[in-house]
Amino acid sequence: MRALHLLFFSVFSLLMIACETVVKKNVSPTEIIAKQTADDHSYANCKEIHTKHLHLELDVNFENQTIYGVARHEMINNGTDTAIFDIKGLEIQKITLGQKGNEKEASFMIGKWDKDSILGQPLLVTIKRTTQYINIYYKTTELTQAIDWLSPSLTSGKVHPFMYTQGQAILTRTWIPLQDSPANRITYSADVKVPADLMAVMSAKNPHHKTKDGIYHFEMKQAIPCYLIALAVGDLSYRKLGVNSGVYAEPQLLAKASYEFADLPNMITTAENLYGPYKWEQYDLLVLPYSFPYGGMENPRLTFVNPTLLVGDRSLVSVVAHELAHSWSGNLVTNSSWDDFWLNEGFTVYFENRIMEQLYSKEIADMLALIEFQELESTISEMDKSEHPEDSRLKLNLANRDPEDGLTDIAYVKGAFFLKTIEQKVGRKRFDQFLNKYFQHFSFKTVNTEQFKAYLNTQLLQPNKLTFNTSEWLYQKGLPKNCIQLHSQRFEKITQLARKFAAGENIFKKKVSWVKIKGKRRKKKMVYQLKRTDFIAQEWQVFIRQLPKKMAVEQLKLVDRELNFKNWGNAEIMEEWFVLGIRSNYKEVFPAMEKFISKVGRRKFLLPIYSTLAEQERTKKWALGVYKKAKINYHPITQKSIEELIY
Ligand code: BES
Ligand code: ZN
Repeated sequence: MRALHLLFFSVFSLLMIACETVVKKNVSPTEIIAKQTADDHSYANCKEIHTKHLHLELDVNFENQTIYGVARHEMINNGTDTAIFDIKGLEIQKITLGQKGNEKEASFMIGKWDKDSILGQPLLVTIKRTTQYINIYYKTTELTQAIDWLSPSLTSGKVHPFMYTQGQAILTRTWIPLQDSPANRITYSADVKVPADLMAVMSAKNPHHKTKDGIYHFEMKQAIPCYLIALAVGDLSYRKLGVNSGVYAEPQLLAKASYEFADLPNMITTAENLYGPYKWEQYDLLVLPYSFPYGGMENPRLTFVNPTLLVGDRSLVSVVAHELAHSWSGNLVTNSSWDDFWLNEGFTVYFENRIMEQLYSKEIADMLALIEFQELESTISEMDKSEHPEDSRLKLNLANRDPEDGLTDIAYVKGAFFLKTIEQKVGRKRFDQFLNKYFQHFSFKTVNTEQFKAYLNTQLLQPNKLTFNTSEWLYQKGLPKNCIQLHSQRFEKITQLARKFAAGENIFKKKVSWVKIKGKRRKKKMVYQLKRTDFIAQEWQVFIRQLPKKMAVEQLKLVDRELNFKNWGNAEIMEEWFVLGIRSNYKEVFPAMEKFISKVGRRKFLLPIYSTLAEQERTKKWALGVYKKAKINYHPITQKSIEELIY
């Protein structure tokens, strides 16, 4: 330990002297520093010094699309003379030491800027071994990837602008200079100034009304990892849904949102009954504009959700169950590095499924899990052929890669099926007791895969004298043989229907039958025709997936005539239908698809559509044309991934 410490300081002193020359010689100092830290995705020297509380002073300027900020870090200093922070795309104006009003300017140095850098730059501040307060004066730039600035035309109301941030995985450093590692938990507070006609909300205690002067104060008293710091500003209004829950949305969307999420109070109770009290006091949802790149983001006290969830039939509420579940798995017990991402997402998918089972039925929950399992199988077989076949291990190694590469069905679904398999082995009762203890034991802490493995052994497997192939699940590629097998009659039934249809049967043909009423004499004619409401949206999703990759256009037209998939309103269905349509050369689907991809910015939907369009020259050209116009509706993160596909 001591030796490592010394090594760090000698490398660091060298670096301090050599930084200028290092820059000139074009050797990045960042690689040298990176080796000294535990987290492959942060330069911060958290072991020597780490933030305990962060106070933000933010001026949100829509005209310049810039945040002018001061990040006041209160640190625990273990006696170092240098503090290292992460920054990316930020302009640092000055740094001072000491409490507000009693500040002295400090010298600092920034690592070389490389536009392709994933991590950004280390910001090195010279301090005293006793320094506690470090204040960084900065502004965001157009390179700030975390912020989406929306002009009024991109909002529902079309009158006011909107902005929101997305921190996970390592984008918080693009809007706040800080130690951007999930291993460090901090409390935070903020004073935020926004235009007077807008409301600001954060992953903290939030207002219910606009203030007259556009000045808001926020407190997050529970310690959280930095990727959960979030801010949104817009023309927002609030409606309460339960004792400790509610929804924020633009006024035009509020009624629709309240209807869609009416089950939220029930979900919270269900989750608490499963894994213990909700520890964050309030749980609200914020409906974002269409550009939001994710289905949901579990910012504490205020989950951000995609407006595509507002289908009108509550068919996509499992996303809310998922984000709510993160209040335990992820926010309370956090993955300590992005290589352990499955601890956040795998647990959450497992938990989400338990909520769905409780609220809707085991039949529905099993079917949802089977749909995910299908996706997992195809992900694993694609991964096997890819550049990184090792990515199908739960414990990842994402050094020198973007942590976003870990956002796959492995962490989510293989992770959840690992837990389901253990549950099957030990029985639900014992497994639930274990999970309750796990959430309690690691509350407000970070965990890595090895700690989880040890905890599983000592708390569940050994006491019950059980053996389990835990290491195979965690460290080997693919799926272990003992993976739980789910069966669902509903899944079977819709699969059969798809097969019949693919084989050319007209599944919409009216079926006539006679039923006897009141004895033998009178008969009633019954005409049955397959309709949309015979199955839930997820079953129709299975239907589409079970069809061949390419179909005769006449067949697709028939489905649209009867069921209108291309204009359904459920984005999950529409996306899969469009993909099948592109492959089948189904021209009639293009106008609806153009409308969809010009409006919706969720990556999960856009990436399959754009990548299928990119498969043929003609459709690729069409995609480029649409993208040029639609680009402005997409978050910078989404733009980046689409450009990789079609440019
Ligand atoms: N925390 C994730 C989103 C995320 C992960 C953003 C990693 C950036 C980096 C969130 O909880 C999530 O998983 N969202 C899913 C929905 C869910 C129902 C699977 C999504 O957006 O699709
Ligand atoms: Zn998640």
